[in-house]
Amino acid sequence: MQDELIKKATQYLANTYNRFPVVVTKGEGCWLWDLNGHRYLDFLAGIAVCNLGHAHPNVVEALTSQAKKLFHVSNLFYMEPQIKAAEMLAEHSFGDKVFFCNSGAEANEAAIKLARRYSWKKYGEGRSRIIAMENSFHGRTMATISATGQPKFQVGFAPLQPGFIHVPFNDIDALEKSIDDTVCGVMIELVQAEGGVYVADAEYVKKLREITKEKDILLMVDEVQTGMGRTGTFFAYEQYGIEPDIMSLAKALGNGFPVGAIVAKDAVMSAFEPGTHAATFGGNPLAASTVIATINTLIDDGVIKNCADVGKYLYKGLTALKKQFPFVTDIRGMGLIWGIEVDADGDAIVKGFLKEGIILNCTKGKILRLAPPLVVKKEEVDIFLETASRIFEKVKA
Ligand SMILES: Cc1ncc(COP(=O)(O)O)c(C=O)c1O
Repeated sequence: MQDELIKKATQYLANTYNRFPVVVTKGEGCWLWDLNGHRYLDFLAGIAVCNLGHAHPNVVEALTSQAKKLFHVSNLFYMEPQIKAAEMLAEHSFGDKVFFCNSGAEANEAAIKLARRYSWKKYGEGRSRIIAMENSFHGRTMATISATGQPKFQVGFAPLQPGFIHVPFNDIDALEKSIDDTVCGVMIELVQAEGGVYVADAEYVKKLREITKEKDILLMVDEVQTGMGRTGTFFAYEQYGIEPDIMSLAKALGNGFPVGAIVAKDAVMSAFEPGTHAATFGGNPLAASTVIATINTLIDDGVIKNCADVGKYLYKGLTALKKQFPFVTDIRGMGLIWGIEVDADGDAIVKGFLKEGIILNCTKGKILRLAPPLVVKKEEVDIFLETASRIFEKVKA
């Protein structure tokens, strides 16, 4: 049955993903089940999406009860859940106002448009370039692959969009040198996740904030992967004691329901006026109901504290693995996003984990990425660490 479905997928689905040969049918907490009834410990959470775990009852209840009332009505009307979700995001962040969309790429598109429009209204034409980081990842639309600082995502899609400058990550001199009066914004992930889990330095981020503030260049923090508790605080920028001007969110915002957003201060968001930006589905009642339930649960159930605590426990275990296995060359991350860099075939190691019933993924062929649900327990971390030890033993041999 599973093989038949995979054959059908090859026949009917665009060939854009290298998929694991598993048809997932059910999820609960940190666990997934496939069509054959095999159980997997999910240390990827749908790539940092299901932060509350799979099928969280609060999100299921919010979504199903909203579905019985109203799916969609368009942004020509006011919708109670959307207003509530925006209020909650503003209350828990630096921002005053929210624009809802459907995905991370779309959120970054909105951030780029907002930065340009803000600058255009204040300073006129010519101040429209955006500095982004080498090794970054911001999405798959034309503007966001142009912002992305990894050429492999751009191959065959020329012409790219003009107006993006790439500088090395964590290099304040390079950033300063690239600033001139054509620049309106800097876009950055505080943890470059797709790029292999590289964490921004505290001093760098502090200086970046100072420079951008001084020159009224908008600091756009892409929190699509780091937001909603993933790093051990609600948002990653909190770890740095700074506030950005625009933040993009998606992934865990609706715990698996497709929803994205940008958050900004009023002085910035007011550059958008009626007719300047829109998304048909953006923040519709279904999406907004999942945002409300997700935020409430993150707070009421102490999920972010669990992320910080279990994250420390996981890091300790990973450090021990690094000591034990010299082919583990680096451990990077914060909260519950971690990269294990290996001097070995990372894809083969990930396959080994899958065989043992643990899901994780590999970026760049050598960085194992861990992003379990933030509700993961220490006992589940132990299962991962014991399995890793067994698998790594074979890699060493
Ligand atoms: C930091 C970051 N920004 C943007 C995106 C794109 O999000 P989406 O796939 O929802 O468009 C991703 C996806 O992995 C991401 O990690």
